[in-house]
Amino acid sequence: MTQGSADIGTRVAEILTAHRGMEGPLLPILHAVQADFGHVPQDALPVIAKGLNLSRAEVHGVMSFYHDFRVEPAGRHVVKLCRAEACQAMGSDAVADHAMARLGIDWHGTTADGAVTLEPVYCLGLCACAPAALVDGRVVGRVDAARLDTLLAEVGA
Ligand code: FES
Repeated sequence: MTQGSADIGTRVAEILTAHRGMEGPLLPILHAVQADFGHVPQDALPVIAKGLNLSRAEVHGVMSFYHDFRVEPAGRHVVKLCRAEACQAMGSDAVADHAMARLGIDWHGTTADGAVTLEPVYCLGLCACAPAALVDGRVVGRVDAARLDTLLAEVGA
């Protein structure tokens, strides 16, 4: 075990202890780990699995089912584009294609300079103003290619 993974193990053990006795603790634990590290490190998974008496596959399965969990640290800014039906009907696919081409990354990717991470999200409750996006936690409606360019320029991309 490297120094980094030992540190991760220690911190994750503390998080496990803090959630002891909780019913259905896996999701809150994963959220707490991500809040601490900015992502859920691979080295955290066996510690969580052992602590909750689950298999690594079970923990990994939950991780990959929920789109909010990251396996790599995010960039300085996180841009989420809605991929759900109402936004798709209003052209979100073209906005997403534009974002990926402009940033040179795919979904869950981070630009080489670490400025922006691009993630899909599935309905932001802003369907009436589709296509919708979330930029560093701020909801933005009616996002077309030009508006997206403005948003990206604002975050330095
Ligand atoms: S479908 Fe995109 S905000 Fe609801």
